[in-house]
Amino acid sequence: MKNILVVGSTGQIGSELTMKLRGIYGGNNVVAGYIPGAEPKGELLESGPSAVADVRDAKGLAEIVAKYNIDAIYNLAALLSAVAERKPLMAWDIQMNGLLNLLEISREKSCALFTPSSIGSFGPDTPKQNTPQDTIQRPTSMYGVTKVATELLSDYYHHKFGVDTRSVRFPGLISYTTLPGGGTTDYAVEIYYAAVKGEEFVCPIAKGTFMDMMYMPDALRAAVEIMEADPSRLNHRNSFNIASMSFDPEIIRASIAKAVPGFRMRYEPDPVRQAIAESWPDKMDDSCARAEWDWKPEFGLEEMTADMIANLRIKLAKA
Ligand code: SER
Repeated sequence: MKNILVVGSTGQIGSELTMKLRGIYGGNNVVAGYIPGAEPKGELLESGPSAVADVRDAKGLAEIVAKYNIDAIYNLAALLSAVAERKPLMAWDIQMNGLLNLLEISREKSCALFTPSSIGSFGPDTPKQNTPQDTIQRPTSMYGVTKVATELLSDYYHHKFGVDTRSVRFPGLISYTTLPGGGTTDYAVEIYYAAVKGEEFVCPIAKGTFMDMMYMPDALRAAVEIMEADPSRLNHRNSFNIASMSFDPEIIRASIAKAVPGFRMRYEPDPVRQAIAESWPDKMDDSCARAEWDWKPEFGLEEMTADMIANLRIKLAKA
């Protein structure tokens, strides 16, 4: 990869992934794609080129790919699960029509393409414990429907046209830099903000509801490593289970309470997010990613809690 376009560069993943890619491949070689209203600012704006890149605008995307001689695209444009339930047609438009635009450009211009999938690509019929790489995927949310279709279409373009599509199924991602917007796993980010602000946390997910989660540095490394992996070793492409930790709200609360004594939480489950969470795996098996491209997480819950709290204390003190 020499010249990279990040679509969705100002979102939860994009804002950090763009900076990481610029650190590896050079600032001028990574274009921060954004939509009007979500412009890059500060370091993200100053460390390299940026361009309006709406996944729904095939012509605009093709112009950026030509202008910057792009050979790899990270497609991070998506509506997360709870928002997608409120706006299913818009979720389809962004996730599916947007993907098709990028697949076509990748086919024409020989770009590699990374479009993440998610724990949301599974459904209530999927085995919940040690969810295998290859298993039943019958999601019941629009987000999940688009993620399974993303996996299938990305694999189709690889088999049919030789497009270098690869990706991972992200767990819920936790970070202190940019907030997620409208996902089911967002509670595991918001809980840290409440704790550091000294507030009680009202948890929208019920006690005993387990989901896979991951600290952002591991997720960013996975996104880079899968795209750098030796293709001759890949039996799978779209998309690999990757895992590092699984917890329910009680377990993360207890982890935080050790660092923030007196931290309080009460439950007020949100029916939409609770139903989605119950349809997702408790814990994925990531042995294929480990075997095919040496995936290995670095952060467990305790390391993540220490890092989140230390960094949020600094961030919120400045705010
Ligand atoms: N974090 C996403 C969500 O909760 C799942 O990939 O919607």
